[in-house]
Amino acid sequence: MRNVVLQKDAIHTGSLILVNREYPYQCAKPADPIPLTQDAPQILLDRRAAVLLTELMQKIHGWSRIVPVSGWRSRTEQQDIFDGSLSQNGAEFTRKYVALPGHSEHETGLAIDLGLKREGDEMDWIRPFFSYDGICRVFRTYAADYGFVERYPAGKESVTGIGHEPWHFRYVGVPHAHIMQEKGLTLEEYLELLRDYPYGKRALHVQKDGLQAAVSYLRGDRGADVPLHLPSNLPISISGDNIDGFILTEWRGRHG
Ligand code: DAL
Ligand code: ZN
Repeated sequence: MRNVVLQKDAIHTGSLILVNREYPYQCAKPADPIPLTQDAPQILLDRRAAVLLTELMQKIHGWSRIVPVSGWRSRTEQQDIFDGSLSQNGAEFTRKYVALPGHSEHETGLAIDLGLKREGDEMDWIRPFFSYDGICRVFRTYAADYGFVERYPAGKESVTGIGHEPWHFRYVGVPHAHIMQEKGLTLEEYLELLRDYPYGKRALHVQKDGLQAAVSYLRGDRGADVPLHLPSNLPISISGDNIDGFILTEWRGRHG
C-alpha cells in the first residue's frame, strides 16, 4: 500500500494533457525543455520527448533525411506565428493550420513538426513536407514504440479542430501511443474513451512486448488535492488530462 497526493494543479501537466481549441495550456512553460539536437539547438522539447525522439532517430538514422522544424514555442512565438499567418495566408488557412495562442500543443514542449530534406526545396515553416513513404514511412512505423502519434490525421478534422497535418507529432508516451494507433483514436477520442475506465473499478488492459499495463481515469476534485491509496507497489505513471482529471497507468511485469 502506498499513499500519494495528486496536487490539484497536476491536472494541467503530464504527457497526456489535451491542449486544443477548447482546453488551453495552463502552465507558463514546460518544466524541463532541452535542445533536441546539436545541429538545431534552438529547437527545444520536453526532456522525455526529446530523449525518446533522439533514440528513435538514431535507430532509423533519421536526422540524415529529416529536419526538426518546430518544437517548443512560447505563447508569444505562437502569437507571432498566428499573426504572421493571418496577414500572409488569411483567416481560413490560419484557423486550419495554426492553433490559437495559448491553445497550441507546441507550447507544451510535447509536439514536434518534422520536415523531409529535399534538394533545392525551401522549407515551409508552417506546413513542412512530411510524406507517408521512404524515411517518413520508416519514422511512422516506429513512432508509437517511442510514444509519438500523428496528432492531426486526415478525416478527424472535426474532432481535432485542425486540418490534416502529416508533419506534426505529439508525444503521449507508451502504451498510449500504441492504443491510439491500434484503435485509430485522436487524443480527444482516447481521453473520452478512458472516462469509461474509472480508477479502482475497471481498467483498459494492454499488452505489448510482454509488458502489461492497466490504464484508467481518475476524476479530480474540483480545485482540491486528491489523496490516493495505491494498493500495490507496482510502477505507476500519472498524467493530468488538462480537462478535469488524471490518467493512471499501472505496469505489471513481464509475467503479469
Ligand atoms: N499547427 C498546430 C496546430 C499549432 O499551431 O499548434
Ligand atoms: Zn506542429
